[in-house]
Amino acid sequence: MRVLIAASEAYPLIKTGGLADVAGALPAALARIGIDARIVLPAYPSVLAKVTERVAEVDLGEVLAAHHVRLIETRMPDSGVPVWLVDCPSLFHRGGGPYINEWGHDHPDNFLRFALLSKVAALLGTPKSPVGWQADVIHCNDWQTGLVPAYLALTDGPGAATVFSIHNIHFQGIFGEEILPLIGLPGHSFAMDGLEFYGHVSTLKAGCYYADRITTVSPTYAREIQTPDGGRGMDGLLRWRSNDLSGILNGVDYDQWDPARDHLLPARYSVDDLAGKAACKAALQREFGLEERPEAPLFGLVSRFSEQKGIDLVLGALDHILSRGGQVVMQGSGDSWLEHAIYGLGGARPGRVGTWVGYDEGRSHRIQAGSDVFLVPSRFEPCGLTQMYALRYGSLPLVRHTGGLADTVTDIHDPSGQGTGFVFGEASVGGLISAVDRAFDTWGRAAWEDARRRGMTQDFGWHKAAEAYLALFRQLTARD
Ligand code: ADP
Ligand code: GLC
Repeated sequence: MRVLIAASEAYPLIKTGGLADVAGALPAALARIGIDARIVLPAYPSVLAKVTERVAEVDLGEVLAAHHVRLIETRMPDSGVPVWLVDCPSLFHRGGGPYINEWGHDHPDNFLRFALLSKVAALLGTPKSPVGWQADVIHCNDWQTGLVPAYLALTDGPGAATVFSIHNIHFQGIFGEEILPLIGLPGHSFAMDGLEFYGHVSTLKAGCYYADRITTVSPTYAREIQTPDGGRGMDGLLRWRSNDLSGILNGVDYDQWDPARDHLLPARYSVDDLAGKAACKAALQREFGLEERPEAPLFGLVSRFSEQKGIDLVLGALDHILSRGGQVVMQGSGDSWLEHAIYGLGGARPGRVGTWVGYDEGRSHRIQAGSDVFLVPSRFEPCGLTQMYALRYGSLPLVRHTGGLADTVTDIHDPSGQGTGFVFGEASVGGLISAVDRAFDTWGRAAWEDARRRGMTQDFGWHKAAEAYLALFRQLTARD
């Protein structure tokens, strides 16, 4: 079976968040169970800089709105999975990140940039495929590739079956109706039974409406997005399509995230020998200018800074954590008010709080390893990967009971006796503090070691998710 994964980021070529971890690891896991999985990704400058091997190049000519495209075939650096890079200098060769420019604003032509990616992906699923390989299934991810099913349904099909995965329903790809002629989609698609969403075009809605199947990244989030509270206006459509919607929990790429093999750490360790973890904690305390005290529980956080992630709750609970003798290390970037709020925290609380504003992969691994507790107090969380990394790194996750966090972390006081972390319900500073207090009350006790051992030995590997996707792809291809 030939499966094309269409995504706007894929680790290690380009990453801004969890979508990249998924788009990097899932195709490799699919390949391991016999699927001919390939990726299509924009050729951002930073991606081209990392590519050494060019297997082939195909000139597609002008694809949309007079934008000229070449497809560069290469391989993912670690897994060897084939990738087509959509090289369109007029849309992708520029500064800033995949979605925002150097000044933090969305690229004004994002609608066209990701329509073009989607159009090229759709072509690879048709008999007109320009590369001599035609996908049976295209797996689209988030609003950036939500138009793939629309192109196949409206202008370029028939062709591959489509699966649309929602990684975050808050990013909806909202643009004005006037983009339709520019992206080559017919005016009649601007309807409730189409890609219209409250008077605008939504590429996320296009994915939800036109795809053959919809998935999201955890079972709990699959339920939440069908409710008015969690659905962000898409819940009616998703309830209508509930027979085609399922939640498949993301996995962890243990080739990247395993403290026994992680060369980004100052020392390595495993559940049977935690000496290296103590060394990682001491090194982290030195790196962030904290007092080198093994007995002080260290609370770590690595996150995008946004309303979603509940960073403000941590700010509200910070002095409480310190008053109970804890230390805090925070790393992230995003909303500027949070960046500013976090920037000066360490200076005002020397030796007890360390912060780093920015994106740094190595440091994120060192925080995972050096922490005792890993904070993920999200208001909502479709899946969340960092709490699963924390489990393997022996840092007890402290999470809010929502989305994928609820599916992956069990509270230490759970009657099952299978606790792996600390879970709170109410999205408030008080709610977070209640879990922080339970962490302090458990620190130094046998229950802590037991929970850590359980967490470190859990298996969230990608093989389970890959089997679930395969089952879904089989349903779709058997149907034809
Ligand atoms: P989301 O995709 O909503 O940001 P996830 O938990 O799914 O949340 O994935 C976040 C990914 O991004 C993880 O791999 C995490 O380690 C990484 N990450 C987030 N912020 C940073 C940062 N500032 N530096 C390095 N890695 C980061
Ligand atoms: C999104 C979600 C996050 C999820 C990630 C990968 O960014 O916010 O919860 O883990 O996608 O699916």
